[in-house]
Amino acid sequence: MKVAVLGFGTVGVGVYEMLKNAPALEAGPVLVRPGKEDTGFKVSSIAAITSDPEVGAVAEVMGGTHPAYEYVSAALEAGKHVVTSNKALVAAYGPELAKLAADHDVAFLFSAACGGGVPFLHNIALAVESDRIKSLGGILNGTTNFMLDAMQSRFMSYPDALAEAQALGYAEADPTADVSGLDALRKIMLACAVAYGQLPDEGLCREGIESITADDVNHFQSKGLTCRLVTSGGLSENGSLFAYIEPVLFPASAPECSVLKNFNMAKYDGENAGRIVLMGQGAGRWPTASAVVRDLCDILHGRRIMMKPDCLRVAADNSSCAHSYYVRLPESEISRLPVEKAECFEGVARVITKPLSVLEMHQIAAELRKEGGSLFFAALGE
Ligand code: HSE
Repeated sequence: MKVAVLGFGTVGVGVYEMLKNAPALEAGPVLVRPGKEDTGFKVSSIAAITSDPEVGAVAEVMGGTHPAYEYVSAALEAGKHVVTSNKALVAAYGPELAKLAADHDVAFLFSAACGGGVPFLHNIALAVESDRIKSLGGILNGTTNFMLDAMQSRFMSYPDALAEAQALGYAEADPTADVSGLDALRKIMLACAVAYGQLPDEGLCREGIESITADDVNHFQSKGLTCRLVTSGGLSENGSLFAYIEPVLFPASAPECSVLKNFNMAKYDGENAGRIVLMGQGAGRWPTASAVVRDLCDILHGRRIMMKPDCLRVAADNSSCAHSYYVRLPESEISRLPVEKAECFEGVARVITKPLSVLEMHQIAAELRKEGGSLFFAALGE
């Protein structure tokens, strides 16, 4: 199958090189910006690809929602299979694109959009055919995991750790999406859509690592704790969907502590299978390109659907998930929290709360910040 590649950045170059060596696949034209068509295989018009009868599939790795949405729609309407690594695109337009693919009897797969080389969505799509998934999530952003690991093990400052993650090609073009948790939140939206046929796009709670300081990391280390940015999704007992992201503190015995550098740890709990854990590189050229090519091979094996064409958009409800939190905040604001214990020094309080819901904790943090207060919080993990 001849594959056209949309985009020739970090992932696009990797996909193109892998296609040249994949036995059942062939590298086709590559879409680049006008003026960048410096060699024969590059084109700058999507029509050159959609009208090419030899092209059987399109790999969209350009990122961003526009013009990616228009290009992917055009490819599907032209009867080309599409695979993409673009989580922003699928989080925003997944249901429409899944329906368009079904209407034209072609595949729309996006395993590379969640977990880099880790076959998370690939396995969830298989698992839902035989089991009920109770919950899913894990460490799904390579950039922030790299940064948290570097801050803890190499005592790097936050800006230096971010700069190194960018230089290694892990971060998004705008790394705000990584450090704010938006990138991983989009991934959990996709995972829920695959697992439950429901895309949660409202009511999501999001806390990234932008507020963490070297002092916080030192404090965690002195207590034998490791901080990781963790996404969680699943079905509550009342049948509603929960979906959120927040930093979590783990004791040394937790497997999350051994997730280093740009690695991801994705997991899901099947009603019958129990817990399944997948670990691997969640970002970078070759891991992500490998997931794109894996989806293309899956198409050759007959897979067409990852998100059902009737996938619904729903609001998440994070009011029934509860745990204790570590919160660092001004000592003067301590009464805002249900305090279990607190350490105060020079006007700064480090509090362990009594259990409170994810929704409540994120609301308290938002209110405090609105009033100009600065804080960092992390759930206490097991
Ligand atoms: N910026 C993303 C990450 C790339 O760091 O995980 C892979 O999705």
